[in-house]
Amino acid sequence: MNTVFQHKLLTTLALVIVVTACSDGNGNRGGAVDDSVMIAQGREIFRHDTFGDEAFWSDTLRMHEVIANAVDPVTALSVGLKVDVEALPEELVADLADGKVELENPATTIALLKLDAVVGLKGTVATVGGVDTLTRVGITCALCHSTVDDSFAPGIGKRLDGWANRDLDPGAIIALSPALPAQTRAVYKSWGPGKYDARFNLDGLNGAHVIPPAYGLHGIDRITSTGDGDDIAYWNRYVAVTQMGGQGSFYDERTGVNITNGSEDLVSSKLPALQAYQLSLEPPTPPPGSFDADAAARGKAVFEGAGQCASCHSGERYTDANQRLHQPGEVVSEPEPDGAPSWAARSATQLYRTAPLEGIWQHPPYFHNGSAATLDAVVETYNSRKQLGLNAAQKADLVEFLKSL
Ligand code: HEC
Ligand code: HEC
Repeated sequence: MNTVFQHKLLTTLALVIVVTACSDGNGNRGGAVDDSVMIAQGREIFRHDTFGDEAFWSDTLRMHEVIANAVDPVTALSVGLKVDVEALPEELVADLADGKVELENPATTIALLKLDAVVGLKGTVATVGGVDTLTRVGITCALCHSTVDDSFAPGIGKRLDGWANRDLDPGAIIALSPALPAQTRAVYKSWGPGKYDARFNLDGLNGAHVIPPAYGLHGIDRITSTGDGDDIAYWNRYVAVTQMGGQGSFYDERTGVNITNGSEDLVSSKLPALQAYQLSLEPPTPPPGSFDADAAARGKAVFEGAGQCASCHSGERYTDANQRLHQPGEVVSEPEPDGAPSWAARSATQLYRTAPLEGIWQHPPYFHNGSAATLDAVVETYNSRKQLGLNAAQKADLVEFLKSL
């Protein structure tokens, strides 16, 4: 048996066990997976595990040197990195509040990394000649799929796992690496905040995708905007190995992507718990007073009637993903902006999954390419592209309904 197949088999077996143990069979909001030990393990992995990707971020990209030389906390916050206030000792929180912490000194970033307080960045700090020195750095899932509630200051607060970090500029961060040729660096710099192209390093094409939330996926059997995987673990293996540089293997015969990093597998055994954690993350409810309830009720009728939205956005999670995927021609977000290549054409299915809509108020911009800045823009796009003929009142009501999900 080859090793890739073995991994697949083991993961599949493990997943069968998780799914059997956890599924409540209805996928309701609040119908969370009931396996607290597994979920707690998955949370640790989601937040803190690098899968050994220091081999890529440090040994290849030399990011630990970049951070030590040039990334003070002000710079870190400006590229969207977040600080977990709960990881900071009380004294430091008090000093921060009193303005006594040097925020323009990279040594402060290293101190924060030593405390494991920078969301999604994991540093190894050793004492060299009496000085704290960053010797290696790696990234975790939380880098892109967690943010903080800004309860202490902008960019500093309590973790919100599963919320996409739409302030994060992963391309700008990677472009800081001295190991990259200028042409590659230019592509990374072209993406902007909240976006990442999880295929560029494999197919060489450029068209960044918004970082999506990792919540609200319980009950949905198609993962990613093109429905590439039947379960979350499929894509977690893809990202962990091919994007984060974790130690392990990924193979998909549909795309021909076949990558093995290192000789150890630090990914497979973690996938069941990691998946269980993500399945436990429910979408956030809209803040009180954030929408007009009467208008939303009228908007629901538009959604189900004149807008024809419910023909695809159906069921508990507002998606028909478990029944079918859609041709790019049916989807209003193609052609891609700025002449970028079709995202679907670069995927395994070449199709799009109807996006689930719960928590949609929370994560503009919309569509896989972020081409609609607001929910008004989404409705306007559907109205003109699908020639729905909705009047101003219907459009406004529909937006209020979307804000209520
Ligand atoms: C550098 C940023 C980045 C990192 C790190 C990252 N992701 Fe993602 N993730 C993305 C982007 C961009 C997509 C959208 C891909 C698509 O839909 O084709 C995505 C998609 C997903 C999805 C699919 C969501 C859906 O609606 O189906 C899940 C789940 C997910 N990521 C979980 C993870 C986990 C778990 C990890 C760690 C193993 C991880 N991601 C690491 C950027 C990232
Ligand atoms: C033919 C099926 C179909 C119909 C009809 C449809 N949608 Fe969609 N919808 C999709 C697909 C597929 C996507 C994902 C597109 C993408 O990722 O670019 C999507 C995405 C969205 C998004 C963005 C989600 C996100 O996470 O960014 C919103 C909001 C939305 N639709 C609302 C509506 C509304 C409102 C209507 C009715 C006016 C509607 N849709 C009609 C299939 C459909």
